[in-house]
Amino acid sequence: MLKGKNIIVGVTGGIAAYKAVDVVSRLKKQNANVEVIMTKHATEFVTPLTFQTLALNPVYVDMFVEPRNYDVEHISLAKKADLFLISPATANIIGKIANGIADDLLTTTIMATKSKVIFAPAMNTNMYLNPIVQKNFDYLKTLGYEFIDPGNGMLACQTYGPGRMAEPIDIVQYVISSFNDKELKGKKIVVTAGPTIEPIDPVRYITNHSSGKMGYKIAEEAQRRGAEVVLITGPTALLPPKDVEVIRVNTTMEMFNAVEAQFDSCQVLIKAAAPSDYRPEVFNHEKIKKKEGELDELNIRFVRNPDIAAHFGKLKKGQIVVGFAAETNNLIQYAEGKLKKKNFDFIVANDVSKDGAGFKSDTNIVTIIDRDGRLDDYPILDKSQVSKIILDKVVDLLNAKS
Ligand code: PMT
Repeated sequence: MLKGKNIIVGVTGGIAAYKAVDVVSRLKKQNANVEVIMTKHATEFVTPLTFQTLALNPVYVDMFVEPRNYDVEHISLAKKADLFLISPATANIIGKIANGIADDLLTTTIMATKSKVIFAPAMNTNMYLNPIVQKNFDYLKTLGYEFIDPGNGMLACQTYGPGRMAEPIDIVQYVISSFNDKELKGKKIVVTAGPTIEPIDPVRYITNHSSGKMGYKIAEEAQRRGAEVVLITGPTALLPPKDVEVIRVNTTMEMFNAVEAQFDSCQVLIKAAAPSDYRPEVFNHEKIKKKEGELDELNIRFVRNPDIAAHFGKLKKGQIVVGFAAETNNLIQYAEGKLKKKNFDFIVANDVSKDGAGFKSDTNIVTIIDRDGRLDDYPILDKSQVSKIILDKVVDLLNAKS
């Protein structure tokens, strides 16, 4: 499947370097030409000879050896690469690339390549969750670097959590799919994400706990599969994915108007946002003051906002409309009700009261219910994996229509 492809595998210094041996072996079985660059630290975990024997190519470690080709090494490898895979990718290499540091053969080659660069991170959970490392991930994603998210599990440091490098079979599958035709090319997908905020006065508003993570991951995955993506987002602290059109809104009415402007020209609408169902009837143009001598309470009257999903679910003319259901009880019963009432093609139900599901977390626990009444339960998964499942289902529905 990878015949004729030049894949440069960068191996950095972590215990998961032993899994990179399997990655290289699997890439060779797919007939790729594999060349390996190791950092000095990586050679402490696995010897270059191991990779050389499997890749049937010399392994590169040192920046300052006699060039084997006319071009200096890092330039010739950078030019040759059809794809660059860093497996395992330590927090260190990710930090260096995010900050433009090129101080060894691997970093200079990554910096000099124009090919796609994919990182398979592997590190201790605390390092993985460190805000600096997360910021580096987010920044590199906006530049088009791709990440194969690590799994949860028992790590070599005897802690349990995210940080374990993805399995070699999944890494190689990701590489193969990177060369496949983009299955959503020519499709326009509108994704809503995040909360909305409804102002009460110039200093106060009501909102909810949505961070936007679920919707942003869906937008990122749709873009990766070649779709033209419009991300309509409420206020979040996230950096949007690269090559996605971003429309920022505050209120549910603004989100409604933004979806309306895009709906006729899209093929798919995915409603991952948590829009506020109500807004204060009156916006006080001045800050509401405490008044002496009055009752110790403040009453604000709320009125209904439009239900964006239900509105466009009813209006759809051939579009696929995917909804979410955020519940704290009777998950399936309520989700089935919303699927029908809002005329969704399928619904992604999440119990937001469960640990690791719903708002803010990097993971979700979902049940997908389709119009035939089929229920698919999934275990706790990273939101990027949930996005893949949702988009696989969207692709199936689009293929069934064509
Ligand atoms: O953003 P995160 O922190 O990652 O959290 C993810 C999430 C919990 C927000 C997400 O997984 C989720 O469940 N999104 C839907 C939240 C929601 O509003 O659920 P609901 O059951 O109240 O609404 C059902 C559907 O109608 C949803 O698709 C919602 O987008 C839509 N809706 C709701 C109200 C409204 N006025 N207009 C709408 O379009």
